[in-house]
Formats: sequence, C-alpha cells, structure tokens
Amino acid sequence: MNLKQLAAEKAVEYVKDGMRIGLGTGSTAYWAIKKLGERVKEGLSVQAVATSKASEKLALEQGIPLIPFDRIDGLDLTIDGADELDRGLHLIKGGGGALLREKIVAYHSKELIIIADESKLVDKLGSFPLPVEIVPFANEWTMASLQEMGAKPMLRTEDEHIYVTDNGNYIADCRFGVIENPKELHQTLLALPGVVDNGLFLGLAARAVIGHSDGTVTVIE
Ligand code: 5RP
Repeated sequence: MNLKQLAAEKAVEYVKDGMRIGLGTGSTAYWAIKKLGERVKEGLSVQAVATSKASEKLALEQGIPLIPFDRIDGLDLTIDGADELDRGLHLIKGGGGALLREKIVAYHSKELIIIADESKLVDKLGSFPLPVEIVPFANEWTMASLQEMGAKPMLRTEDEHIYVTDNGNYIADCRFGVIENPKELHQTLLALPGVVDNGLFLGLAARAVIGHSDGTVTVIE
C-alpha cells in the first residue's frame, strides 16, 4: 500500500464539480493530480492552477484544464503535500523547492488540504531542515546571516550545481533544531534582506489527510 497515494486519493474526494483547484508539488501531490485527472476524464469539471512547472506538466498530461491567474481571483481548494506537520497544522514545506508558489497559491485558496503519509506527522517541527528561499544576489551574505541565527544553512544543490527554483532563486536548507516558536522564527526570517520566503506554513492548512501503514486514513482538522 502506497501511503501517499492513499492520502492523496482520499483528499481528492473533497473536490466538487465546478471548483477552482490549486495543485501542489511533490511525490504525494503527484497522486492527487493523477486521481484528479481520472475524475476529469469521468466528467468532473474543474479549473486548476499549478504550484510548479513539474505539476503544471503533469496536470496537462492528465487532461486537467489549467487557468491563467488573471482569469480567476482565487481558488476553492488546494491539495498539497508537506515535509512535516504537527497536530496544530503548522507545516514545513519546500522539500521539493516549490514553497514560494505553494504559499502564494495556498494563501489565495479558501481551503488548503495537506496530504501526507504518517511519517510526516511530528510532535514539534524541526527534524526536517527548513527550506528558506533566498535571492542569488549576495547569497553568501544572506547565508552568513542565517548562520548567525543558528540555522546551520546548506545551499541546496542538484547534480553538483546550485539548485535554482522555478522563480530563479536559491534554497538554503536550515537546521534550527526543534522549532519551539514557529511564528517568531517565521517573522525573523522574513525580516532578513535576501530572504524571499520560508517553508513554515502557519495558519494556512484547514485539514490534513494522513495515510497510515495499516491501510487507514485519518483526518486532522
Ligand atoms: C514541495 C513541497 C512538498 O509538498 C513536500 O516537499 C512533500 O513532498 P513529498 O510529497 O514528495 O514528500 O513542499 O515544495
């Protein structure tokens, strides 16, 4: 049993005819997009926006109609994965590098449903290094500032090159240890010049659908 698929397919049941949908990014969102594509082929009518070039490509392959941002003023529902979540629905996202687009899309959605396998559920955030999107300009200084904050930042690489987001930025993966006060950390990071955004999603998710190894699905609201 693929737990990501289990959670994703359950979450797609929340999609109703006529909805405007935000499509997340990552290996769990992949299953949601595949399932949504199946439902579209069966006659479900939706309009969607994607949170990454990869999800956009997948959605088009699945026959999901994509709508330009200037044609709609918001979304009914976004379904997306997470790297970590706690029971208060605080999240770390951005392991797949799409955190900025994901946060913009989530903010403009009436509802964000998080889909995850049970390994993502934690008591407190912080085991997963927090992705921080930074601009390339003077990134060495931004990295030094993050270091001074105690973040132990690592500039993300891919195939031995610096990883570049869909927005042309870099990602600093930051180990803060257990994050006791996510809100304060979020504000501190946003105040640092050079930081575009970070993977803390606070007060955005309304519901999480979790796939468990015994084949059950639980919902946190
Ligand atoms: C991408 C994300 C993903 O939702 C997160 O990394 C989880 O990915 P996966 O579903 O592959 O475990 O935030 O930026």
